[in-house]
Amino acid sequence: MCEDLTVGSPSVVAVEVKNSTADGKKYITSEELQKHNKANDLWISIQGKVYNVTEWAKIHPGGDIPLMNLAGQDVTDAFIAFHPGSAWQHLNKLFTGYHLKDYQVSEVSKDYRKLASEFAKAGMFEKKGHGVSTHLFIVSISIIE
Ligand code: HEM
Repeated sequence: MCEDLTVGSPSVVAVEVKNSTADGKKYITSEELQKHNKANDLWISIQGKVYNVTEWAKIHPGGDIPLMNLAGQDVTDAFIAFHPGSAWQHLNKLFTGYHLKDYQVSEVSKDYRKLASEFAKAGMFEKKGHGVSTHLFIVSISIIE
């Protein structure tokens, strides 16, 4: 069962009422996500799901700096690049219950995620030291620039 980390926040309740939809999912926009970009109110999204990492940042094995730098943004590609598959299991408990209404994936990111997924299936990310993944990520960023 996911912990509801949004209880008690009036601004979040207002957004929820406005953005509840027929599919039963709760949505916020990227613009709303961007507002949660402070150390004491830190949200990110991964594959269109929104996570509250305010408390997680204090115990994140990679430190709080990467999370602070990407606060309020979609971090899917960075998440894939820097983590072994076992990191995904931590996400459920951080889920806010919100999905991104305007979630979009660029063509470059689609290619990157496809490659990363194929490499993962081939067992290339099982050991610590994610050189292949990090390299892939850096290459994809340099293509965008
Ligand atoms: C909710 C979001 C996140 C969760 C649950 C999470 C979880 C984790 C976990 C479990 C590890 C240890 C992995 C291992 O055993 O090797 C880790 C390490 C790390 N994370 Fe995250 N992480 C999150 C977001 C991010 C983001 C957005 C970045 C941005 C770049 C990041 C960067 C790193 C780095 C650099 C390490 C150290 C990697 C290493 O030592 O090999 N994390 N994270």
